[in-house]
This record gives sequence, structure tokens and C-alpha cells, in this order.
Amino acid sequence: MSNYDIGIIGMGVMGKNLAFNIANNGYTVAVFNRSHNQAVDQLFQNPVKRLFPYLSINKFINSLCSPRCILLMIQAGDPVDEMINVLLPYLNKGDVIIDGGNSFYKDTMRRFNFLTEKSIHFIGMGISGGEDGALHGPAIMPGGSIEAYDIIKSILKKIAAKYHQEPCVKYIGPNGSGHYVKMVHNGIEYSDMQLISESYMLLKYVSGMNNIEISNVFKSWNQGELRSYLIEITGNILCKKDSDGQFIIDFILDSASSKGTGAWTAQSSLELHSPTSMITESVFSRYLSECKANRMIASTLLLGPRVSKISDSLREEFIEDIRKALFLGKIISYAQGFSLMKKASENYSWNLNFANIAKIFRSGCIIRADFLNYIVSEYSANNNLLDLLFTESLKDIINAYQSSLRNIIVIAINQGISVPVFFSALSYYDAYRTINSSSNLIQAQRDYFGSHTYQRTDKSGVFHTNWL
Ligand code: 6PG
Repeated sequence: MSNYDIGIIGMGVMGKNLAFNIANNGYTVAVFNRSHNQAVDQLFQNPVKRLFPYLSINKFINSLCSPRCILLMIQAGDPVDEMINVLLPYLNKGDVIIDGGNSFYKDTMRRFNFLTEKSIHFIGMGISGGEDGALHGPAIMPGGSIEAYDIIKSILKKIAAKYHQEPCVKYIGPNGSGHYVKMVHNGIEYSDMQLISESYMLLKYVSGMNNIEISNVFKSWNQGELRSYLIEITGNILCKKDSDGQFIIDFILDSASSKGTGAWTAQSSLELHSPTSMITESVFSRYLSECKANRMIASTLLLGPRVSKISDSLREEFIEDIRKALFLGKIISYAQGFSLMKKASENYSWNLNFANIAKIFRSGCIIRADFLNYIVSEYSANNNLLDLLFTESLKDIINAYQSSLRNIIVIAINQGISVPVFFSALSYYDAYRTINSSSNLIQAQRDYFGSHTYQRTDKSGVFHTNWL
């Protein structure tokens, strides 16, 4: 019998790197993979300090100290349910299962209830940062059993990324909240990436710059208020050449897939009536990118303006407009994402702490950015903030930058360049600040064809008109 601190099931890239991260931080880790696995084989051949491979699930579980803490790093979906069923006969009351995959939050809610009935603690834990983050410090979003969080928090704090010494992990809330917050993180990641890609299109075709020049623009933006991991890697990607001396970016197919977290964010926003339009549009942009064959046909049939380069004298101003539009787009997208989390928190009674969530996002994760400090300070002052767009620290930037967003969209329209998420940002912005929208007409139409009734501005109650 051994007494190892934690067990990890699933030795794919993320599982393996987390196992090394935990072991490097002084904890003993038992590891197991259901099927034959190279990483497990290697550990048998070349033992690594504090990492102990197992081929038998029984021996793996019995090697752990009590209460047993088992981290699942396996594919989201059915495999998680299957593995829980495999583990259950071996577990005692008070043991802890942690699901570290990108699981759907409603599955996590169901699993939490199922395991709580059996007195097994369950944590649904979002982990962000990719392979490198898993090894050197990810951002961690644990939700579920608070008792279990207390058991594992010392490990999590050690292995998490640090933002000025502060670990990027905090208890998120009950049942599926950790996975929900990770899902919205990914949704925001989609819109950040899409806004950057649309900026790249404008820089490439309207400014007429080459890859190195565009790379330098992103690198210089990364020195200012846009400083973030995604801007940094974009600068690096654009200047990377292959062994033949050719820019890799020029040979990558323009068709981007997705694993589902962005679509889940969009689905949740539809369910909760939270207009998270930029994330949703980013998901559609990926789907549209996948229609490459149709797009090839459309390019030969459907007319539009020819792209022409902006004059040299206007180029610098245009680039600065893109920078401002990108920053404003980011602000609107995060405001939408945090409003969605607020709705979810109320709907599911999660009592989310938004300053803590923004703090977790500041290091280790894919959307890490200086900009998150605005969000941390605003929500630290008031967790019930009506909207990030109304805050003192952001309001002036928003008002100053909105004309740049308009400018680049006008140029994109006139040049026939598709910038759907910039569009979406501006549509949302203008709709949001409109006191009298067109929805009076929608109400009247619904009442006309379906007697759905309408409300009035001058009287309370509901009304119906015989329109014919
Ligand atoms: C992260 C990433 C990670 C993964 C995305 C990719 O936070 O570390 O978001 O979770 O890379 O799921 O998602 P798509 O394949 O849907 O782009």
C-alpha cells in the first residue's frame, strides 16, 4: 500500500503535463491510462521522481491516500460517465473525483448530483493554458464540492499560473459553475481570435502590408493596452517561416474547426436570453470558414467591390483605427461574456464572484491580457455591476474609440471585406444605446398576425388591437 497524494487518469498531452507539473511541485502522483499509452510505458522504462505509473485500476486507486483524489484528464462526453462507473465500485464515501476536461456544464451538474447522492465529492474543473500551461502553470476554474476544493486546494494553488505571486485558481461555485466559466472563457477566446483575424484581413488587403510588416504591427500593439497572449502569438505566427524560407501562414488553409465550447456558449446565451452576439458570430465565422467548397463557387458568381489599397498618407491613421476598434471590440465582447455569466449565476444560483474570475484569467490561460485588470478592479468594487460598458474606467475609452470602429467598418464595407465580429460589436453597441428601438413594430406585427398582445408606453397592462 502506498500513500500518494493524487491520481491522474488519462495520459494524453494535458494529463501528462499536469502530472509532471504536480510532481515537480513536490507531490506524489499515481497515473493510469485505460488503454495502452506511450507516456505510461515511458514512465515504466525511465522512472520519474514522484510519478508512479499503474496498469491496474485497482492498484492505482489503492495507491492513493485517503480521501482518494482522482483527476480525470480524458475526453469530454461519454468517456467521463464510463470512467466514473468504472471507479465507483472502488471508491469510499468522501473520496474525490475531479473532471479536468472541457466538459459540458450540464453534464457536470448531472454528475455532481449523481455522485453527491453516493457521498462522493465531485469537482468540474476548467483548465486553460494548453500544453505549456498544463506543464508550467495553467489557469484553473474548479466548481462543485467546496469540501473537496478544501482538500485539493493546496495542490491547485501550487501548480496554477501566478499573477504577481497570486495563484490563478479560486473556487468558482457549486456544481457545473467551474466548467461554465471555462466555457465562457473559450467563447471569449473565439471572439478575441476572430477580431484579431479580421484585423489581419484589413491590414493585409487594405493596408497592403506584408507578413513581416503586419507581424511588427501586432508586436507593437503588444506593447500597449492590447497586450495579451493572443496578440503576442499572432505577431510570432505571422513572421514564422518554414525550412524553405516561406511564411507558414500563407500556406495554412482558411478553414478553422472547433470542438464545441464556443457553440455551447452561444447556446447558453440563447437559452438565458443574453445577447452574446460577438461570440455567437465568431462561432458562425468558423462554420462559414469550413464551407470552403461553396465559398470557392461563390467567389466566381457573387459580385462585390474590388479591394484597393489605402493611400500611403492614410495608412497610419487606418492602422491606429484598427487598433482602437480591436480594443473596443474586445471590451464589448468581454462585457457580453461577463453579462452572460451574471445571467447564468442568477439562473443557477451560483453566486459567482466576477473579480475572482477575472483574476484567474490574468495569467496562464489563453485569454490572458492586461485589459483584465480593468475588469478585476470594477468587479472588486461592485460584484453586481450593471454592465462593464457603463463603468468609469472603460466609459471614456469606449466613447473615444467608437468612431474608429465605425471608420474601419465603413472601409471594410466599401472594399467588400468581411469583418462580421467587428460588425456585430458595432450593431450591439448602437442597438444598446438606442432608447427607442424598432421593436414597437415587432410587437405590433406579432399582435396583428397572432393576437400576441402588446404593451404600451403610456398605459400599463397588455393590449390587443383588431388590426383589420
Ligand atoms: C484553453 C483552450 C483549450 C482548447 C480549446 C480549443 O483554454 O486552453 O481554450 O481549451 O485549445 O478548447 O477550442 P476549439 O478547438 O473549439 O477552438
